[in-house]
Amino acid sequence: MPPTPPAQLIDSFDRRISYLRLSVTDRCDFRCQYCMAETMEFLPRAGVLTIEELIRTARLFTELGVRKIRVTGGEPLIRRGVDELFAGLGELPGLETLALTTNGSQLAKQATHLRDAGVSSVNISLDSLSPSRFHAITRIGHLDAVIRGIEAAITVGLKRIRLNAVILNGVNRDETLSLTRFAIDKNIHIAFIEEMPLGHVNVGGKALAYVSSDDIKAELEQHFELQALSSRADAGPSRDFRIAGTRTEVGFISPHSHNFCSQCNRLRISAEGRLLMCLGNEESIDLRDLLRSGYSDEDIKTFIIDSLSIKPERHIFDRPNEPQIVRFMNATGG
Ligand code: GTP
Ligand code: 5AD
Ligand code: SF4
Repeated sequence: MPPTPPAQLIDSFDRRISYLRLSVTDRCDFRCQYCMAETMEFLPRAGVLTIEELIRTARLFTELGVRKIRVTGGEPLIRRGVDELFAGLGELPGLETLALTTNGSQLAKQATHLRDAGVSSVNISLDSLSPSRFHAITRIGHLDAVIRGIEAAITVGLKRIRLNAVILNGVNRDETLSLTRFAIDKNIHIAFIEEMPLGHVNVGGKALAYVSSDDIKAELEQHFELQALSSRADAGPSRDFRIAGTRTEVGFISPHSHNFCSQCNRLRISAEGRLLMCLGNEESIDLRDLLRSGYSDEDIKTFIIDSLSIKPERHIFDRPNEPQIVRFMNATGG
């Protein structure tokens, strides 16, 4: 008899899942306007997956063919035990890329440890280079700590460093050029993200005013030559361009204007252990319950494989004033 091929994660639209986004906490030391409401209730500690549960989950997914894990939050680096988590993830056989998305506030302290654990891709949110505006956007964050974090990531040699900027009219629309120049100056990458309506985050009753990627791209093209890059094997939704004459790539993440769902290669786990099929839909299974009910590894893998039948075809974010998803972004880390 020929050997049974290893189980793979393939959904009903023939998309192969090779990438897991693992939210390790819903808490954050910032309160970004587009991510959270001003006052938030966070999960009780017992509701969040433990470090052991997170590592077990990650191992099961790698056994099912996942090659890339991106740790997200809230802010992952404020999670207690995060060192142990990265050390455990870094040892998983089969994992090719260990990645992190962070607000950067704790990076200065943790960059060395992350590098030593094998983290090879770090995305750092940075929406403004003005300290007062940064403080207003994040409600409580301090720009200088984030800049120190970015510099530490560069100094310790973390491999692929990218800034993430959510651009909004009336907030930071005028900073695309200065943010791009900052990335060029530091020899790191940058992505511009169209805001997605998750949770009720409208500020002062006003919907946040999203800016299309095409507008930003056209503006940058007045100053730089952008050379289209073919997407990387483990690529996410970003459409990437090299800025000619620099080592910097600029990416555009355009959930509204350029739908990328047909290329979706990912699943996400929320901080409370929901295995979510899509950022823009609610289909999920309760992985935490399975992990805490004494099921074997093989049983849980079977549940995961079966759950793929409910992965939706695409997200729909076309009602800007009325989010169809009431969960806030910090539950999934994007
Ligand atoms: P890579 O792993 O390098 O591809 O990074 P990424 O861009 O996927 O990750 P990051 O955590 O930096 O997220 C950047 C933005 O992309 C955030 O606004 C995420 O919410 C958004 N994003 C990531 N994956 C998806 C997705 O599957 N669907 C949608 N709609 N948005 C996504
Ligand atoms: N729309 C788009 N991106 C968002 N992020 C947080 N909230 C939103 C939103 N509503 C981004 C952050 C961070 C990444 C994880 O998700 O800027 O870089
Ligand atoms: Fe925190 Fe990131 Fe949400 Fe800002 S976007 S509040 S940094 S989780």
